[in-house]
Order: sequence, then structure tokens, then C-alpha cells
Amino acid sequence: MIPYGHHDIDEDDVAAVSAVLRGEWLTTGPVLEQFEADLRGFTGGTPVVAVSSGTAALHVAYAAAGVGPGDEVITPPMTFIATQATAVALGATIVFADVCSDTANIDPGAVEAAITSRTKAIVAVDYAGHPADMDALRAIADQHGLILIEDAAHSLGSTYKGRPVGSLADITAFSFFPTKNITTAEGGAVAVRDAATLQRAREFARQGLVREPSRHRITGEGPWHQEVHAFGLNYRLPDVLAALGSSQLTRLAAFKARRAEVKASHDAAFAGRADLEIPAQRPHVDPMWHLYPLRVPVNRRRAVFERLREVGVGVQVNYLPAYWHPAFADLGFPRGLCPVAEEFYRREISLPMSTTLTDEQVAVVGDAVIASLEH
Ligand SMILES: Cc1ncc(COP(=O)(O)O)c(C=O)c1O
Repeated sequence: MIPYGHHDIDEDDVAAVSAVLRGEWLTTGPVLEQFEADLRGFTGGTPVVAVSSGTAALHVAYAAAGVGPGDEVITPPMTFIATQATAVALGATIVFADVCSDTANIDPGAVEAAITSRTKAIVAVDYAGHPADMDALRAIADQHGLILIEDAAHSLGSTYKGRPVGSLADITAFSFFPTKNITTAEGGAVAVRDAATLQRAREFARQGLVREPSRHRITGEGPWHQEVHAFGLNYRLPDVLAALGSSQLTRLAAFKARRAEVKASHDAAFAGRADLEIPAQRPHVDPMWHLYPLRVPVNRRRAVFERLREVGVGVQVNYLPAYWHPAFADLGFPRGLCPVAEEFYRREISLPMSTTLTDEQVAVVGDAVIASLEH
């Protein structure tokens, strides 16, 4: 089976992890600090808190933004459910805004129409690695005094109008799951522009513990003292995994270049096919392609998917519109809410996309897609 996504581990990665395993610190310590500093080199200098998953990063982002009961959070439906689940966990109400038909990213016009007096945050998801329309979203957020959050699980390494993802939103959440643009096995990070929000993010991810004596409200205890002002969780990323992250980051540019080659080869395989729609790329955007979302005719999607799996091409569908999940449907979210996202879902198949694909495998995928359409 040609995998749809795959990690890319080399001997330097193995050596970096082994060195930590032979050392004194296994969990959060100096290597984690180095990883956060290294990541900052890819977020346009925005400070970073590394955490234990992309889901944790989103939970930290919402908690640091002060999202809570009574708040509405506007999200697109074309995403993995973690985008919403972590805000729901804090008591927020999810409001869905439809996506743009070219990129499947949240439509700024739909966002504007969804704003109410209870709106707290706008969440953009950089679907497939293609940055959302961040300038338009920033203008809306500023006009209404809202927090702008970017779920960049797919888009570490992408740029928008020459600016890196991580420098665009108030808070940006990354994932380092094995199929993502870099991996720490499990892991994630938030990049946070505002210093007070950054501090809340760090503390929420570390049990809420306040260590600096100057901020303690209980005085006179002793040098061992640390205290909690707001409840947090344990979302620490261990040094063992942070070492892998720093090592992977040294190859981010090479990973991006290889993903671009795979994208270009897939595009070329489908050139001139009126029945297929290749992933759109807007001007002024330089995506690091995490997925290759191909659109096929609605009435052929299932057969093409099954045929590709039969012939050994690992395909997926990203994503079921979030509010189709029974967890949302049970709350009364109806089908038909976001028609553009639903149409996108009905036609979408994610083809294999990773740095470890060989040119031969990429060619096999293209041929197999064409053959499956004619099957
Ligand atoms: C858009 C999106 N957001 C969030 C996540 C959650 O990341 P993780 O799997 O690292 O918890 C994912 C990963 O699957 C994702 O694709």
C-alpha cells in the first residue's frame, strides 16, 4: 500500500533522540527550551509553547484566549473535530461559517455574517497547508474586537503574502503528528503574540503552576513554593520528543520542497481533465502542502476511493463536515448548514502526500486515479 501520509525519520533524528535518552532529563527540560527557540525561527519570531499534541495546542489556545461558557467561537466545518472539541470542552458554543469553494478555508464573508454579541474568537484552519485569508480575517477580528486563532496543524512552513504562518494570528496552533509537516511522534505547539496571553498559555499547559516569587500571592512559604492561580493541565512535551522536533526542523525547507514536487507531479497527471479539480493555490500564498485534496465527480467518489484502496493506493477523505458528527447533530446542527463545505466533502479524496514517496510511487498514484475513473 502506498501510504497517504508518512513520517520522514533519518539517522540524525535517531541520534538526537538517543542522546536525550542517555542524558539526565527525559521530560520537559533544556531540550524542550531549545525546540521552542528553534520553532520561533519559523514563526517570524512569535514566541512558542510546545505541548503534547495538536489537540492540546488548540485547548491551550482557547484557554489562553479566555474562551469559556457563553462564548461563541466561529470555525469552519472542513477540519478535524479537534478544532471544535477543545473549545466545547471549555464550555464554548460553536458557530459554523462556510468555506471558500477553491481552498476549503473559512470564508471571511460567512464569518462576518456569523458574528453576534457573544462571539469571542474566529478560528481559521489552513486546510491542506494552504493559509486562510488571514488579512481579511484580521480586519474582521479587529473591527469587532475578537481574537483570531489559526489552526495550523497542516501549515507549519507555509507563508501568506511573504509572512510565515505563526506570525499571522493572535494565537497559532501546530501539530507534530507523524503525517504532519514535521513530527515529534505526538506533539504540538502554540505561537502567541501577546505576552500576557503567552504566559496564560504556558501555565495552562503546565498545571497552572506559578513559579516566579514576584507573582506569588502566598508569601513566606519558602524556596520550594509554587502555587496555582488558574487551573491547568499537563500538556508538557518531553525532551525526548522535543529532540526529534529540533532535528526535524533542520530539514523543514527540504521537506517543503519535496512536498511541492509531489504536488506538481500530481497536478501534471491530472492536467486537462475536466472531471477533476486539483488543489487551488491563491496568489501571494506559498503553501507547504500537507494534503493533496483532489476533487472528483460526486457520483464517482466512492467507487474511485474503493478502487484506489483495492490497487494499493492509500487514500483518505478529509473531512466529514464537523457538524455531521453525531456529537454535533445531537445538539441540533442540521445538514445543509454549510453547503460549500458539504459539496467539497462529497467530491474530495486525499491522495498520498509525503516526503518519503518515490517518483515511481507518485507516478503510480496518478495513473491509478485516471484508471479508476475509467474503471
Ligand atoms: C486541522 C487539525 N487540527 C487539529 C489536529 C489535532 O492534532 P493532533 O492529532 O496532533 O492532536 C489535527 C490533526 O489531525 C488537524 O488535522
